[in-house]
Amino acid sequence: MSLHKHTPRIVTRTHELRLALKGVREGGRTIGFVPTMGALHEGHLSLVRAARAECDTVVVSIYVNPTQFGQGEDFDRYPRDLDADTQRLSDIGVDWVFAPTDTEVYPPGFDTWVQPGKMAASWEGKCRPGHFRGVATVVLKLFSMVGPDRAYFGEKDYQQLLVIRRMVSDFNLPLTICPHPTVREPDGLAMSSRNAYLSPEHRRQARVLSQSLFWASEQVASGEQSAEKLVTGMRQIIAKAPDAAIDYVAIVDPDTLVPVSTVTTPVQSLLAVRIGGVRLIDNARLIPSASP
Ligand code: PAJ
Repeated sequence: MSLHKHTPRIVTRTHELRLALKGVREGGRTIGFVPTMGALHEGHLSLVRAARAECDTVVVSIYVNPTQFGQGEDFDRYPRDLDADTQRLSDIGVDWVFAPTDTEVYPPGFDTWVQPGKMAASWEGKCRPGHFRGVATVVLKLFSMVGPDRAYFGEKDYQQLLVIRRMVSDFNLPLTICPHPTVREPDGLAMSSRNAYLSPEHRRQARVLSQSLFWASEQVASGEQSAEKLVTGMRQIIAKAPDAAIDYVAIVDPDTLVPVSTVTTPVQSLLAVRIGGVRLIDNARLIPSASP
C-alpha cells in the first residue's frame, strides 16, 4: 500500500500506464480506478478517497470525452485545468493520473462502439441521444487501458451507473463497480463541474432541484404513495425558480428505471432541469417508512 501523500505521476500514453501497472498486478496488489472528466470537486474526491482506502494503487483518469457530448452541448467550454486537478489529488495520495490525448483514445480509423440497450433509452438517453453510447464506449476503453480491480462511480449520475453496471455484467468484465453517494453543497445542490456555469442568481435558483427531492423523500417517508402527486409537488417546487425549465421529473423503479405509479417499496426520483440554460441533473432514493 502506498500511504505516502505525493503529487501523482501523470501519464498520457496507454503503454506507459500498462508498464507502470504491470508490477502492481504481478505483485498481487489491487488497482482502484476513478474515471473523470476533470474539473474535480468534492464529489470526485469522495470517490478517490474511497479508492485510496480500499485499493493498493489508485488511478484517476481525466479525459473530456468528446463522443458523449451532443451537438450544441458544452464540450468546447467544459472546464479543463490539469494542473489544478493534479494538485487536488495530491493531498489524497493518488498514484497515477491518466490523461490521454484524443488520438490515444480515438486513433484514426476508430470504428467500434458499445451500444447500450434499454437502460440507456429513457431519461438522459432520450434527452441526449448518443450520450450513453459515448459514455459506455469510453468507459470500456478506459477499463481496458487501466485494468482495474475496482472502479468507482457516483450515484449523482444514477442512470450512468446502471448503464455501466449492465455493461460490466453483459461483457463479463473482471472488475467490481463501487457506487458512492452524491456529495452536496451545504444548501443541498449536488456538486457538479457544470455548477460553475451558473450565474449567482441562477446558482440561488438551482436550490429547487434538491429541495424538490428532499420534499419528495419526506412525503414518501410519511406515507405518500402516489407517484403522480409526488411528481406534481416536485414540479411546483421547481417552478418557483423563475428561470427553470424541466426536461423530466420522474419516480422510477431503482433497478429498471421504469416509472412506478404507487410507491410501496424504495424508488428512485430522477430529474433534469435547465436553470437559465445550464442543464443540471439530480436524483434521490425515496424510502417508504414501512419498507425493509
Ligand atoms: P464526471 O462528470 O467528471 O464524473 C466522474 C465521476 O464522479 C462519475 O462517477 C460521477 O457520477 C461522479 N460524481 C460527479 N459529481 C458527483 C457528486 N456530487 N457526488 C458524487 N459523485 C459525483 O461521469 C463522467 O465524468 C463521465 O461520464 C465518465 C464516467 C468519466 C466517462 O467519460
